[in-house]
Order: sequence, then structure tokens, then C-alpha cells
Amino acid sequence: MNSGVAGARTARAVVPWTPVSSNGRLRVVDTPAVTFRTIDLARHAALCVELRRDSYACSFLPADRHMGADGGEYLTWLAARIAEEPAGHVHVWRGDEIVGQLEMRVRPGEPPVGHVNLFYLLPEQRGSGLGDALMDFTREFFVSRGVPLVTLYVSPRNARGLAYYRKHGWRLVSPEPNERGMLAMELPLLTRPGGADDA
Ligand SMILES: CC(C)(COP(=O)(O)OP(=O)(O)OC[C@H]1O[C@@H](n2cnc3c(N)ncnc32)[C@H](O)[C@@H]1OP(=O)(O)O)[C@@H](O)C(=O)NCCC(=O)NCCS
Repeated sequence: MNSGVAGARTARAVVPWTPVSSNGRLRVVDTPAVTFRTIDLARHAALCVELRRDSYACSFLPADRHMGADGGEYLTWLAARIAEEPAGHVHVWRGDEIVGQLEMRVRPGEPPVGHVNLFYLLPEQRGSGLGDALMDFTREFFVSRGVPLVTLYVSPRNARGLAYYRKHGWRLVSPEPNERGMLAMELPLLTRPGGADDA
């Protein structure tokens, strides 16, 4: 199963498959079973840079944002993050092909809060149902860490990203973008006894 892939396998998910999306359209892919493995920077640094740049493009953000020359600044940051939390910085494998990337960790604090830096699927994999697998992995990761809340930032111009987060239960922290022009979103993971907060 892990043939030829260096680095630790840290998590695995086989996704329940449904052929119909939430708006009733038929999905047009075969099986979406995927495996999540810690990013192997020695082998896949260039791919990481490429995917990161594309994620910025999808958000209409400058492609060199936080990247440095040839992506060096990003790779230094990513290497430190992988060392800190290998299970949260993963490539998404479908067979022997990398189809996506996730970056997440628990931010220290009281209480600790989960934060996702990147959800990414290759363009040809979007709309296939694999997005559900990425979200399932993310929930399981943070539930296993005992974190009650997860946060992320999304560009208001990233309509697809916003729709994706909303349909998976994320809510806007504020309708207004922050000082960097990004919308903050959060996902509560545990229901409080005594009723939900619908605000
Ligand atoms: C974010 C990402 C992982 C989501 O995966 P995905 O497979 O595209 O997600 P899904 O197709 O399941 O969900 C997207 C939803 O947005 C809808 N959508 C697509 N284009 C849209 C648009 N322009 N405006 C509004 N909604 C849109 C889809 O119809 C779908 O909803 P549905 O399942 O009810 O039909 C993927 O799109 C991606 O990698 N994008 C590039 C990187 C990125 O933007 N990451 C987020 C940065 S914060």
C-alpha cells in the first residue's frame, strides 16, 4: 500500500461514498478512498510550493505571499511545522498519486484551539467527493486532540472555499474581513450540554 513512499504514514481514511452531492447533482468519479501521509519534503518540496501558490491563486492573493524566493520562506516554515506536528501536515494520496495537501496544528493557548492553514485538492479532483474526505480527516485529527474549536482564514473572493466550509458546518466569526482582508471562520467540534448557539 505504501510502496515507494518515504516518510511515516500517520493517518488513514477510507471515505463512505455517496454518488450524489448535497445539491443533488451526480458525482462523476470512481472510488474516493484516499490515504493521508506526512509530507516528505525531501521528495516533494517543489510540489508543496506549486500547490501553495495555486491555493493563493484560487483565493486571488499574490502568488508570492509568504513564499520568498523559489518558495524558500514557505519551505522553511513548512519544515518546522512538519517537525512540530507531522500528523497535521499531510499529502493526500490516491493510489500512488498525490492529489491534495493539508496543513493544520493545535495552537498553544488556554484553551488550545485548532487551526487549519491549508485545505488543497488538485483542480481535477475538486467536486469529486474528496473534499469530504479532507474534512473528515480534519475533524478526526482535532477530535483526537480534544480541541473544541477549529479556526481558519479564507479570502472573501474564494467563493468555492467559502461554500465548501459552510456546507461542512463552519461559520463566519464576523461578516467583515480582518485587517489583512481575510474572513475568519470557525468550526465547533463539541456540542455544549444545554443547547446549541445558533447566532
Ligand atoms: C477547498 C477545496 C479543498 C474544496 O474541495 P472541493 O472538492 O472543491 O469541494 P466540494 O466540491 O465538495 O464543495 C465545494 C462547493 O462549492 C460549490 N461551488 C463551486 N464553485 C463555486 C463558486 N464559484 N461559488 C460558490 N460555490 C461554488 C460547489 O458546488 C460545492 O458545493 P456542492 O457540493 O453543494 O455542490 C478545493 O476546492 C480546493 O482545493 N480549492 C483550492 C484551494 C483553496 O481554495 N483552499 C481553501 C483556501 S482557504
